[in-house]
Amino acid sequence: MKGVRNIYHHSYSSFLLVFVVTILFHPALSIYINTLSSTESLTISSNRTLVSPGDVFELGFFETNSRWYLGMWYKKLPYRTYIWVANRDNPLSNSTGTLKISGSNLVILGHSNKSVWSTNLTRGNERSPVVAELLANGNFVMRDSNNNDASKFSWQSFDYPTDTLLPEMKLGYNLKKGLNRFLVSWRSSDDPSSGDYSYKLEPRRLPEFYLLQGDVREHRSGPWNGIRFSGILEDQKLSYMVYNFTENSEEVAYTFRMTNNSFYSRLTLSSTGYFERLTWAPSSVIWNVFWSSPANPQCDMYRMCGPYSYCDVNTSPSCNCIQGFDPRNLQQWALRISLRGCKRRTLLSCNGDGFTRMKNMKLPETTMAIVDRSIGLKECEKRCLSDCNCTAFANADIRNGGTGCVIWTGNLADMRNYVADGQDLYVRLAVADLVKKSNANGKIISLIVGVSVLLLLIMFCLWKRKQNREKSSAASIANRQRNQNLPMNGIVLSSKRQLSGENKIEELELPLIELEAIVKATENFSNSNKIGQGGFGIVYKGILLDGQEIAVKRLSKTSVQGVDEFMNEVTLIARLQHVNLVQILGCCIDADEKMLIYEYLENLSLDSYLFGKTRRSKLNWKERFDITNGVARGLLYLHQDSRFRIIHRDLKVSNILLDRNMVPKISDFGMARIFARDETEANTMKVVGTYGYMSPEYAMGGIFSEKSDVFSFGVMVLEIITGKRNRGFYEDNLLSYAWRNWKGGRALEIVDPVIVNSFSPLSSTFQLQEVLKCIQIGLLCVQELAENRPTMSSVVWMLGNEATEIPQPKSPGCVKRSPYELDPSSSRQRDDDESWTVNQYTCSVIDAR
Ligand SMILES: *[C@@H]1O[C@H](CO)[C@@H](O)[C@H](O)[C@H]1NC(C)=O
Repeated sequence: MKGVRNIYHHSYSSFLLVFVVTILFHPALSIYINTLSSTESLTISSNRTLVSPGDVFELGFFETNSRWYLGMWYKKLPYRTYIWVANRDNPLSNSTGTLKISGSNLVILGHSNKSVWSTNLTRGNERSPVVAELLANGNFVMRDSNNNDASKFSWQSFDYPTDTLLPEMKLGYNLKKGLNRFLVSWRSSDDPSSGDYSYKLEPRRLPEFYLLQGDVREHRSGPWNGIRFSGILEDQKLSYMVYNFTENSEEVAYTFRMTNNSFYSRLTLSSTGYFERLTWAPSSVIWNVFWSSPANPQCDMYRMCGPYSYCDVNTSPSCNCIQGFDPRNLQQWALRISLRGCKRRTLLSCNGDGFTRMKNMKLPETTMAIVDRSIGLKECEKRCLSDCNCTAFANADIRNGGTGCVIWTGNLADMRNYVADGQDLYVRLAVADLVKKSNANGKIISLIVGVSVLLLLIMFCLWKRKQNREKSSAASIANRQRNQNLPMNGIVLSSKRQLSGENKIEELELPLIELEAIVKATENFSNSNKIGQGGFGIVYKGILLDGQEIAVKRLSKTSVQGVDEFMNEVTLIARLQHVNLVQILGCCIDADEKMLIYEYLENLSLDSYLFGKTRRSKLNWKERFDITNGVARGLLYLHQDSRFRIIHRDLKVSNILLDRNMVPKISDFGMARIFARDETEANTMKVVGTYGYMSPEYAMGGIFSEKSDVFSFGVMVLEIITGKRNRGFYEDNLLSYAWRNWKGGRALEIVDPVIVNSFSPLSSTFQLQEVLKCIQIGLLCVQELAENRPTMSSVVWMLGNEATEIPQPKSPGCVKRSPYELDPSSSRQRDDDESWTVNQYTCSVIDAR
């Protein structure tokens, strides 16, 4: 515990320093000039700054963690937002610092006039005097004192961005100057030095941006399609902005500009690796995160699904083969290891092939793509057919109904689909595969679904009739299903002991609600009543005739899985009563409609608070701690205190709903499993759950136990503390980030700054200790070996008792990236299946840095 205290002292004092600096730099102290002549200088001690015309931007020295930097920020905002830092990797170590013009260069001099930064121009026009000027758009430029023509600037800060792209700034290539302008994140929220993440344009026939962590690709923007990037749909919807991507012999670059100057907007690469559009409206008090990319932890990560497969957030598993393709390795595919992707059912014949149209797609990676902007879709198809290597084609520009032609050769990689708004992609298939193979299957499936629904109805009628008769059990229902050979494996009762005797399950006392009442309550499932969308259907808000607010989960009609998950959820949740579990009010079955009716919770889900647009301001530490505690108690009830032992299997922040008093309620029991009391683990071939929350033994081997829920809980705790999503189970995820910092004695660096800002002055010491305790507990829960993870009862104990000794965590469970994934340029796949056994993916040690 001694180490813990040291970390705390260190970070607390730096927090105080930042606070003091913020006060020192109150805007009232600045002097309003925007030009620095060769005889003038800015020094730290004078507190002088440059202010842009219009008073939007301010440039000067600032301090963080006892280091001094020259930087730029918004002048009028209530708190500092730095948008440019000159000497980010070479700070001044004390408050001796001067910015001045020396010859034709701008330099920062530190102690004993040592230069820490310079514009490094070798050639200059020494004859006429040089001035430095901060322009109205935030561009800090060097120019001839009597020539302010933009093309004659000898140097400009817009060519050397830090982590932020301002309006009118350009991201990408200036071919004339041979510059690639890209963003590099801060190391942490209070350390401007170059961090791990960068956002960079890659030159190719159809250029794309990549979000990189070190050299590893994390996310791909997709190519520009005339309106937006194929993989960032949201960056087109603000009315007071115009977006542009220029591609000519002088530059290949993205830029945007404001059409209404009362708004501020910027694109920033956060220290946690998100490329974000932030805007500040005139009446605002915080930056509004308009979108954040990668937006979806499952489908937006680079090459989450292998070649010829695409990611769909609404399917389970989320990776799907393109029509006419099958998984390359069925065994791995079943375990949700989709890296190897899919292979053609029928080889292309080179002449006489056809195309299948995929709608709403993020276009595949363009490494091997060829572009011709002069032809349309019809010509494009012909050209693709005439090239034996062509695998797909699409429009290059989606404006005016679609123009131009892109042709892919080789693998189609890193695709996903969207609910709406994506692009059409035409994938080449052999004629034999053009007809959907599933036609025949489709009929069988709908037959099965039909029969199932009928039997469900009968079962419900039986239950209703038996209301006054002997008690029956969910177990017998399950048995009945099994005896009738229904495709319902939803309820797994692992031991006969529950069938009779002391564990008798009471009859389902769940009101059946008329479809008509629900149609009325939800205004015929109108879009404006939609409050969420999950894997199994859409959730609507409704108001019953008596005024009661309800949430209606309407299972999608096409979901075959829905039937078992539905039964599972109904039978389970109806019997569970706990303040931290969402309460079910009734259900509705009518023809092919299946619905669950829950209490309506004002505050929606925890993830909308942690990661949504309103994040950064809403959840203070006390609320986060209370939520953590509540979820822990709800989970303990499921594991231990209810009449069954239940493994939730899909615990994640989006499944935690908040009521009006911010009391957390665990929801979504569609994947839960009941365990017999004497059973400790089970094995399933059907791995369900969510990437990033799955324990390694479950994701890799399909083994689940209470400890897999504990793992998911630990991931959640770390997400609550950091305000960041865990993006998958690879070795460079949130868990290893938290672990590295913990081992390195820098645990507080991972804490969401909102938490630190929310500490109440009187008890901040105590609250910091609470935060540290939670990090430690979170890390204990995500340890690689299930047996090392604590049970929920000891988690609840540790959370609730101040004086408890908490064990030191071991390294978290994670999965090594395969060589294929680590080498983003390799577009070829290895064919030796046996070298890809599942065991290879488990890794045991992550070194502390
Ligand atoms: C800019 O936006 C503000 C706030 O929405 C609005 O009041 C103003 O009229 C807008 N100005 C222009 C020029 O559109």
